[in-house]
Amino acid sequence: MIVAIDGPAGSGKSTVARAMAAREHLTYLDTGAMYRSVTDAALTRGLDLDDARAVSELARDLDIVLDNGEQGPVVIVDGRDRTDAIRMPEVDANVSKVAAIPAVREAMVALQRKAAESTSVVAEGRDIGTVVFPAAEVKVFLTADPSARARRRAVQRQGGNTATDANAQANAEEQAKIEAELIERDRKDSTRATAPLKPAEDAVHIDSTELTVDEVCDKICELMERARA
Ligand code: DC
Repeated sequence: MIVAIDGPAGSGKSTVARAMAAREHLTYLDTGAMYRSVTDAALTRGLDLDDARAVSELARDLDIVLDNGEQGPVVIVDGRDRTDAIRMPEVDANVSKVAAIPAVREAMVALQRKAAESTSVVAEGRDIGTVVFPAAEVKVFLTADPSARARRRAVQRQGGNTATDANAQANAEEQAKIEAELIERDRKDSTRATAPLKPAEDAVHIDSTELTVDEVCDKICELMERARA
């Protein structure tokens, strides 16, 4: 069984995908973490991100391991723990450029398909239902209002969690800045030539603005049941 969850930044994909993995005993596959790992490694090495050849070569050579441990997912790149490093604002600001390079995508898609060869997965990203797993049994396109998405990210950066504290408030200035960044990243991700962010034709749209994580998961579980029937 493959459950594909696509959608814009901050729509709740990671939280929902992780919760689904725990509920349904699926392997959680965070494909954004892969593009972030390449971006982080390129920045650390001082590569020119406009040099598509150099960045692609790096993407092919990197050893990216997504380890779903007891304490939550850990990202190990060339033997180093980069779990926190790949969420830094500098990576946020540059990842769309790296993710737009076709040869980088080719290398990451190969890794993603390999990860799902022998196990059921819940994969989240931008092109999971359209490109990576077009035959996925369940396809969800998860959205939310930009202000809700920005609030979630802002609260996260302050060390909080809107999934466990629905009323958590973010610093207004920080939230506005994040909202502008998210909108810009979505624009880049959905207008790129290769595998742009867009719903698969057969994806079920879920707007998570007014829903709890459990409510979104309930809907996805229903889709899984239907797919199994
Ligand atoms: O989900 P995220 O914010 O961690 O993703 C980081 C970036 O990676 C996002 O801006 C677009 C890119 N990405 C992609 O192009 N394709 C995917 N399947 C997943 C992420």
